[in-house]
Amino acid sequence: MPDPVTIRRLYGRSKGHKLREGQAALLEEMLPRVSVPDHGPLDAARLFGDSRPLEFEIGFGGGEHLAGQARMRPDHGFVGCEPFLNGVVSALNHIRDDALGNVRLHMGDALEVLERLPDASLSRVYLLHPDPWPKARHAKRRMVNNGPLEMIAAKLKPGCEFRLGTDDPTYCRWAMMVMNQRRDFAWQAESAADFLTRPADWPETRYERKARRKGHEVWYFRYLRI
Ligand SMILES: C[S@@+](CC[C@H](N)C(=O)[O-])C[C@H]1O[C@@H](n2cnc3c(N)ncnc32)[C@H](O)[C@@H]1O
Repeated sequence: MPDPVTIRRLYGRSKGHKLREGQAALLEEMLPRVSVPDHGPLDAARLFGDSRPLEFEIGFGGGEHLAGQARMRPDHGFVGCEPFLNGVVSALNHIRDDALGNVRLHMGDALEVLERLPDASLSRVYLLHPDPWPKARHAKRRMVNNGPLEMIAAKLKPGCEFRLGTDDPTYCRWAMMVMNQRRDFAWQAESAADFLTRPADWPETRYERKARRKGHEVWYFRYLRI
């Protein structure tokens, strides 16, 4: 388990632009209705009132991918965590506009929510464009590290997927190195096309689109929990 200090340092800013009036109202009115409960153990019954499969996104940014996945599988429950306030407001907009009843949000650290879920309870975990922490001395803060990965591995059902996307060459090399040393995940790529081409069921985020516009390559990693 990563120590709490390391977890707290995993993310940087949590506030950006000041919220407009409508955004503040949306936050106040809607967030309590779709929030993950603050305390206690979590499972599908507590979150959605039934035993549906659960999927989990770490750091959903603006929520485009989370909402896209939730639209594709209305019978699954989606839990998304993001400490960045403006990102949470953007996700609430998607939930409202698409009338998504199968999404729950936590404005804060994903690992704090993950640890409250039962082991082997998740059908998928997504980590898209995690903060790169490019300096070598900050490498311990990267989400792809054995501490967070232990937790992700514990919470995923065997045979289910951990998806990781990045446009950062340093992070890409780092992630491949860390993941290749693990015996609990099997990389699903058979050819370069498998990790250089965005799978059809992997909705693009605004962040990813911007990265491509800047000329960045994007890598799509799919690992099966063994
Ligand atoms: C570069 S952004 C990518 C956002 C999004 N995944 C995308 O692809 O558009 C990384 C995001 O991870 C979030 N983040 C960082 N540490 C986190 C943590 N411990 N729990 C949840 N989110 C976190 C940041 O707030 C930020 O929004």
